[in-house]
Amino acid sequence: MKIIQLTDSHLMPSGIVVNGVDPEKQLRAAVTDIVEQHADADLLVMTGDLCNFGDPEAYALLKDILSPVAFETRLLLGNHDKRPQFREAFPDHPVDENGYIQSWLDTPYGRLLFLDSHEHGVIGGIYGEDRMGWLDSALESAGDAPVTVFIHHPPIDCGIAHFAHIGMHDDGRLIARLAAHPGGIRHIVFGHIHVPLSGTSREGIAFSSGQACSHRFITELDRPDPMWTGGNPCYRIITLDEVGLRAYSVEVGQTPTTRAELCAGP
Ligand SMILES: [Fe+2]
Repeated sequence: MKIIQLTDSHLMPSGIVVNGVDPEKQLRAAVTDIVEQHADADLLVMTGDLCNFGDPEAYALLKDILSPVAFETRLLLGNHDKRPQFREAFPDHPVDENGYIQSWLDTPYGRLLFLDSHEHGVIGGIYGEDRMGWLDSALESAGDAPVTVFIHHPPIDCGIAHFAHIGMHDDGRLIARLAAHPGGIRHIVFGHIHVPLSGTSREGIAFSSGQACSHRFITELDRPDPMWTGGNPCYRIITLDEVGLRAYSVEVGQTPTTRAELCAGP
């Protein structure tokens, strides 16, 4: 199956620039490309920070921008979002019994889990007892099926100074619970850090982030105050099939140079 990941769109009402980037322009270009190039996709997942301040006008704009997407969509909340405003704008979006924006989808290649790590007034991620209870039942009912997780905040230490105090505030409980799943965790897909990162946790779980569709950082790992930068709108194509999981980064609007010749091998 083909999954499209968009992350950290940070939408504002039309015309407002955030950290030197117009988030509406970025997201519209990315969604236009997705609709043109990936009509065969099965799912679009936006891994949080949908809107920069969570205001109703920005969620209305998000709804408008996503309206040409014909396939299933799951939206996750990030620290910049606001849950009540999101639910007002997207009343049909799946939620758990406590109103967190959490759900799962079963596929031929295992269960996909969409987790809600947003907590009002907290920049880092929170995954408390009530959410963990939902996760327990989601994992237990998955049985031996492998699981792929989508969440805004990385449940691991990303190793970037700027995020040293705004990661997942859970002392490793979420990743430990995931690691105990007998079917295994195929991958954890997240956003939040605005730059591409891939790795493996000490439990042996693979993870990666998408690059933000809006503003992103110049890669200065040790600086607590790195510079923001703009760049092409981007998203990821994630394939999940009998081979496993693969993630490809796409930039919209690249300038072609010359065409590569066919490499017939060997
Ligand atoms: Fe963000």
